[in-house]
Amino acid sequence: MSEFQGRRIVLGVTGGVAAYKAAELVRLMVKAGAEVDVVLTAAGAQFVGPATFQALTGRQVWQALWDERMDNGMAHIDLTRGAAALLVAPATADFMAKLAHGFADDLLSTLCLARDCPLLVAPAMNRQMWENPATRRNVAQLRADTVGILGPAHGEQACGEVGEGRMLEAAELYDELLASLQEKLLRGKRILMTAGPTFEALDPVRGLTNLSSGKMGFALARAFAAAGAEVTLVSGPVTLPTPRGAHRIDVRSAAQMRDAVLAELPGQHVFIGVAAVADYRPRELSEHKIKKGSGGITLELEPNPDILAEVAARADAPFCVGFAAESRDLAKYAEGKRVAKKLGMVVGNLVQDGLGGDSNAVTLFDATGAHPLPLAAKAEVARGIVSHLAKLLEAPRGHD
Ligand code: C5P
Repeated sequence: MSEFQGRRIVLGVTGGVAAYKAAELVRLMVKAGAEVDVVLTAAGAQFVGPATFQALTGRQVWQALWDERMDNGMAHIDLTRGAAALLVAPATADFMAKLAHGFADDLLSTLCLARDCPLLVAPAMNRQMWENPATRRNVAQLRADTVGILGPAHGEQACGEVGEGRMLEAAELYDELLASLQEKLLRGKRILMTAGPTFEALDPVRGLTNLSSGKMGFALARAFAAAGAEVTLVSGPVTLPTPRGAHRIDVRSAAQMRDAVLAELPGQHVFIGVAAVADYRPRELSEHKIKKGSGGITLELEPNPDILAEVAARADAPFCVGFAAESRDLAKYAEGKRVAKKLGMVVGNLVQDGLGGDSNAVTLFDATGAHPLPLAAKAEVARGIVSHLAKLLEAPRGHD
């Protein structure tokens, strides 16, 4: 992963128990190619010392306003110059109060005031502190000042109470930060999509399904949301967490998936079928478990609706995108599908390159031809699809 390659992040750590998660966040960012400059407040250093951050970043850690290591003595200004973002994680209630009022009495708060890059904070505090009217006012002020507020999460707290105020986990913060750095190429676009497999029940315990982890569709939903789109994700049965920023509707069968899609369709700019929809379903659903007999049994199947083709054929069809997972002759089948189903774009891949795994190699087929994307992690492939789709949406409408 090189998602932060060439990017410098300034990470402020204030005095909260969640400071231990900041160490893990640094590790994830450094692994992804980031240069991380850590700025510790005096209280932050009480929880995790500078040696830990220095070892993890391979860079010196900054603590004092009067630090003489910066040649011009301007650490409070120079540290954010050229940085992609300044993230404060954990951000205590006290630190957020200082930010909201523009105080600058230590290195980190001064950096925040003198910054030249986006500022994000990850609140971490006891639930009553989070709910306190003073904190509510400060959070509202920070939002109005375009400071990004990441979280907090709901859950068990270090003090033993349960509620809102827990800092997001390191991986979640990583994901949020990465999303905040994405260009908002799809701002204002409403995108409806399907993902995962469908499950066509035979009896109360058995059914027909297919191999689809849902990973590509979920990564795509995440990338669309990070690019500023409003995403509705109709998902078949998968074991994946809901992508941040997406509205998820769970379904099981193809018929349910179709109903959910048609209900959500009005007002959408784009429809993307990523789901591996079962082509057939059992003609009959047995109310009770089918018992084993001595001989074989024959299943009678009937075709499922083709959700994508149905949506694309409507007079009010949004821009439609399909997926084509083939085992051979990718270009022929994918482009054939695009023309037959009247789609604006088809994302084609060879099943041997993508199924179930974390990476994928895809080719995008549109009216202008084939555009291969390099083999990459599904999240990176998703970003490639986002930027291509954004270009197609800008171009004058028309399929062929
Ligand atoms: O024709 P084929 O099933 O290969 O087409 C795949 C594309 O069509 C995918 O985008 C898939 O989500 C969509 N599809 C659908 N409903 C079906 C079958 C496929 O929406 N019944």
